[in-house]
Amino acid sequence: MVVPISLLKSTLTQKPADMLRRCLLSTTSNNNGNKFKKALTCALLTGTGAGSLLLLTALENSFRTNASDLELHPTHLPWNHSGTFQAFDHASIRRGYEVYKQVCSACHSMRFLAYRNLVGVSHTEVQAKMEAEQVQVTDGPNEEGKMFQRPGKLSDRFPSPYANDEAARFANNGAIPPDLSYITAARHGGEDYVFALLTGYCNAPAGIPLREGQHFNPYFPGGAIGMGQTLFNEVIEYSDGTPATASQFAKDVSTFLRWAAEPEHDIRKQMALKATMMFSLLAMISYYYKRHKWTVLKSRKLEFRPRSGKSD
Ligand code: HEC
Repeated sequence: MVVPISLLKSTLTQKPADMLRRCLLSTTSNNNGNKFKKALTCALLTGTGAGSLLLLTALENSFRTNASDLELHPTHLPWNHSGTFQAFDHASIRRGYEVYKQVCSACHSMRFLAYRNLVGVSHTEVQAKMEAEQVQVTDGPNEEGKMFQRPGKLSDRFPSPYANDEAARFANNGAIPPDLSYITAARHGGEDYVFALLTGYCNAPAGIPLREGQHFNPYFPGGAIGMGQTLFNEVIEYSDGTPATASQFAKDVSTFLRWAAEPEHDIRKQMALKATMMFSLLAMISYYYKRHKWTVLKSRKLEFRPRSGKSD
């Protein structure tokens, strides 16, 4: 694509210049009326030439930047929380937590999230405590100086599946599963990308080599990803009886991950609504007050009266 356009570009740069030269040469031998017409034609031709040159350069640049990335860009989906004044779907966050806990947490940590963060968002305090108690946490040292295991508390963070990055890498063919706490903030496309990634697995097209343990996903930069497809219909069951389809899992876990990365989301939008209302009221009052205060200055008349007859 680049070659023919560059060729075109070079012929185009020469053409208007040539034409201009020829026009100017001929104008010298003609009368004035014709001169003007020809000069105008020259100017128009040069202008059109320069215009199409700019257009082609822009086109070529757009090809160059976009043709280089071979991944698909996720479509923007109509999330419950997409609108300016829309809050998260909290039932979806709760289901998303179930998906994370039963599927993703086998490989991915979320070490910036504690069980207390769930309280009032997706779980009641009692439910969140029960969730925390299901995991064993290393605590200590006790009075004998030894570390010990105890059931989790609300203040504990989500447990990590691997002891360290090396163990994670070893278990996943050399690819470290990233921490998911802020993943929707850390990837272009956010929750749209996560959804597209989880539902976008397909067979690798010819010419894309995959190494041992790699899978093909057109949404992942480069296409070869170290994570296999994890979401299939009915791979888990929802506690609220929602139909357990792969796309439903992907939608819920993406909503959950968006909430994890941006827990202040609902309050932020609520504050924006309040602030818009408050500030428009204040704006109206201050406009009225400004008119009131300035009316004396705006309507006054300054008059200059020189002293009659005398000068200083
Ligand atoms: C069997 C282990 C495993 C499971 C289960 C798993 N993942 Fe992964 N995941 C990985 C690995 C390994 C990578 C790193 C892939 C790479 O860099 O090639 C990864 C990468 C990712 C990425 C980052 C992709 C990027 O752009 O870098 C996201 C997002 C992700 N996983 C989400 C999930 C979600 C959500 C779930 C649960 C539905 C899940 N994963 C379940 C192993 C897993």
